Amino acid sequence: MLSYRHSFHAGNFADVIKHVVIVEILEYLSKKDKAFEYIDSHAGAGLFSLQSDHAEKLHEYTNGIGKLNAQDWPELALYFEIINSFNETGSFVYYPGSPLIARHFLRSQDRAWLYELHPTDFDLLKSNIGSDRQIRVKQEDGYKGLLSLLPPLSRRGLVLIDPPYEVKTDYQQVVNTVVLAHKKFSTGTYAIWYPVVDRSRIDQLEKNFIDSGIKNIQRFELAIAPDSHASGMTSSGMIVINPPWTLMKKMNQLLPKLVARLADDKDAYFKCDVLVGE
Ligand SMILES: C[S@@+](CC[C@H](N)C(=O)[O-])C[C@H]1O[C@@H](n2cnc3c(N)ncnc32)[C@H](O)[C@@H]1O
Repeated sequence: MLSYRHSFHAGNFADVIKHVVIVEILEYLSKKDKAFEYIDSHAGAGLFSLQSDHAEKLHEYTNGIGKLNAQDWPELALYFEIINSFNETGSFVYYPGSPLIARHFLRSQDRAWLYELHPTDFDLLKSNIGSDRQIRVKQEDGYKGLLSLLPPLSRRGLVLIDPPYEVKTDYQQVVNTVVLAHKKFSTGTYAIWYPVVDRSRIDQLEKNFIDSGIKNIQRFELAIAPDSHASGMTSSGMIVINPPWTLMKKMNQLLPKLVARLADDKDAYFKCDVLVGE
């Protein structure tokens, strides 16, 4: 089943936390000269117009990036610099997805691998990336694809796993895939996005990671409303394995501010914790 289109959701509060976390990780990886690899198992289309029919239908970005601006968020300067690079000065129409955010950090020695199964989004991704010898775009299953690349030659890298969870098996498949991937590439950084639609699924996901035997796992979550069975996605988070040492401090400062700005509900909350120590 491939009905999910990220163009309906681009720039929402879940994209904000996901992309802020990957910007921090990629900035950290690019501080050393040594090459790194970026693997995006569920890449999406790469760039989204917030004026498209899809974006206009749900207006989700108005609860996310639409509520933030560069002047009030100096700590997100790099995130805004990347977004602004896709927009003419003074206008805000385009929001970059994870592949184009990651491309900002690639130097001549770095490589990226992008997997996208949806035929329309694959074509859009290919055209948004254009011809770039450092980046491989594949219309293949991202879970299998990422395993085939590990360990990367550089022995450094970020693997982003960002499934739509429209098939419920995704919850188990992310854990199974990360366990196999970690056996091949234990020093890599893994960032796994999750939505909170049904908290029990996330409790189980968290438990599966804690029981996996993998060390050094942190979790960052941003809720715009209390958990509920009736309201769709109320919260979303990132599980990060082998995070840069800077990430916890940054998210501890950012998440309370993001909740205050993005959530209208007084019971909104955030989570910023170590699931498994080093
Ligand atoms: C949440 S979106 C990705 C958003 C993107 N990572 C971003 O941050 O801009 C998930 C994407 O995964 C694609 N997809 C679903 N199952 C897949 C699979 N097994 N392998 C690769 N792509 C898949 C969907 O078509 C969808 O475009």
